[in-house]
Amino acid sequence: MYSEKVMEHFMNPRNVGEIENADGIGEVGNAKCGDIMKMYLKIEDGVIVDVKFKTFGCGSAIATSSIATEMIKGKTVEEAVKLTNRAVVEALDGLPSQKIHCSVLAEQAVKAALYDYAQKNNITIEGLENYKPSDDIHDHHEH
Ligand code: FES
Repeated sequence: MYSEKVMEHFMNPRNVGEIENADGIGEVGNAKCGDIMKMYLKIEDGVIVDVKFKTFGCGSAIATSSIATEMIKGKTVEEAVKLTNRAVVEALDGLPSQKIHCSVLAEQAVKAALYDYAQKNNITIEGLENYKPSDDIHDHHEH
């Protein structure tokens, strides 16, 4: 049911943890399962020099985030914006269809962290102009 790559990344996830003084932090939740993903980026001269993630997520979320961090490390922010959950799933040699939504969590967390970086530095990132941090995938409304 799960590819060897999924199992391998699940057993040995890369880049787990957090980055102190990260340049961008993204936190997203998954409406389908309630799982949460947090992504930290260290960015120098528009290049992602380090990335770490933490998740309260299932095995597929761990595997997709792990490979997503490998895919964006060393890339420019513009390249990282283009990372799709499809590319992540392909890089893992596929996921069962009922687990595709888990890979969306990784893509969204990367975008949220890039958006945070752009906001903090008052810049726009090509490909992220229309991005809006969405609330509906997140369940912490302050009252
Ligand atoms: Fe929640 Fe996979 S079941 S992220």
